[in-house]
Amino acid sequence: MTTLDSNPTTQPATCPAGSVGAEYDPFGAQRTYELFARARREEPVFYCPEIDYWVISRRRDVLDVLRNPDVYSAQITLSPVTPFSGAVTELFQQGGFSAQPVQSNCDRPDHTRIREISAQILSAANYAALEPDIRRIAAEFLQRLPPAGSAQPVDLLKSVFYEFPAHVLFLILGIPDADVPKIKAWADNRLLMTFGRLDEQQQLRCAEDMLAYWHYCEDLVADRAANLRDDYPSHLLRARNGDDRVMSINEIVSVVFGLLLAGHETTTNLSANAFRSMLTYPENWRAICAEPELIANAVEEALRFNTSVICWRRKTLQDVQIGGCNIPAGSNLLLGLASANHDEEEFEAPERFDVRRRNARRHISFGSGIHFCIGAPLARLELKVLLEMFSQRYPDMSLAPQSFEMIETVAFRGPKALWVNLGPADA
Ligand code: HEM
Repeated sequence: MTTLDSNPTTQPATCPAGSVGAEYDPFGAQRTYELFARARREEPVFYCPEIDYWVISRRRDVLDVLRNPDVYSAQITLSPVTPFSGAVTELFQQGGFSAQPVQSNCDRPDHTRIREISAQILSAANYAALEPDIRRIAAEFLQRLPPAGSAQPVDLLKSVFYEFPAHVLFLILGIPDADVPKIKAWADNRLLMTFGRLDEQQQLRCAEDMLAYWHYCEDLVADRAANLRDDYPSHLLRARNGDDRVMSINEIVSVVFGLLLAGHETTTNLSANAFRSMLTYPENWRAICAEPELIANAVEEALRFNTSVICWRRKTLQDVQIGGCNIPAGSNLLLGLASANHDEEEFEAPERFDVRRRNARRHISFGSGIHFCIGAPLARLELKVLLEMFSQRYPDMSLAPQSFEMIETVAFRGPKALWVNLGPADA
């Protein structure tokens, strides 16, 4: 990254003309990896007119952006890619929707203040302590599946991956299991509102859900304020100790609102993507069945090969030059995390899925720098447990014939269903 000191005021963008931007569909899932590969070769930074974003495709450029928070602001990471209609904005105003930047979309110094308090609970050690619970919950889900030998294909997304990570996260948040279906449905709509391409009518329908979601978080925090417990919202309230300078009530509600999406939608999609990769290249599935010690690296390779957060966002705070392209202050950047994970400069034969890949962990699916995903150890643990349990119980599992329909957003990516055959009983 070079900042252009010579011209402190906004300059026009200049960039080698190319065609990738015209072909790139930021919401569609059809040719994402193919176009990213072309971009890395021919046009490493390209402009996408449909959403008014500059797309950054090379790993080193993406890392440069993520690691320079004073030049690249995170303020837009949760802004709607498709702007809200007037009716939605009015609904939010009247409904008292007041989410404010607190974590992934918050810049320093507020980000540091809030992250330090969050990290006291959202820590690798606390996640590790949850492992017995995570195994218990996963076992409950697996018990509901037919045994190996059943002739019926099973949709793993619907039967396990959709709800499993929410049950784990709700242990941390102190939310009853009965609320999982409602919150998952709200979260799906919230994803589409923030990262999708909804028309006005669809936006309005989803906005009702988003409002209900926000009020749910407000009620949760109010409930804990009246009666502290041993959960994450109560921890934030204890840390606040009535002092707005530490954290305001609205900030706490915003943190809970943020986590109630980031903590399970990501892992639902990661699990589906990971099992899809493992079974599409079944020599990898056979390898982890025969050598379970490969599973930790299989998790990293799954994150590298087919991550669930394919892009993330930043805004330039000054004129910059990235990959030979001059980009003015105030521009929107779409950071191709998935593209970075397939960058030939770092990964040999990046289109090969290989659970034995030595540098798989060099992926940047959890970002980098001050906003590095605070849930990364939990996501890794959840996928490890799923791979261990499934490979033990269903070693002959295979992908059922199907055409994959994907969720269509600029950031989140995963299939809407994942049909598998569970394999013969006497495997
Ligand atoms: C496969 C699963 C996951 C993926 C791919 C993922 C990805 C990401 C990415 C790309 C970021 C932004 C990083 C940056 O800006 O540099 C992020 C931030 C964040 N993630 Fe995750 N995430 C996952 C799971 C989780 C889980 C399980 C939790 C909660 C327990 C979580 C909570 C958060 C939070 C709170 C932030 C904001 C951190 C900050 O700004 O300080 N994520 N995640």
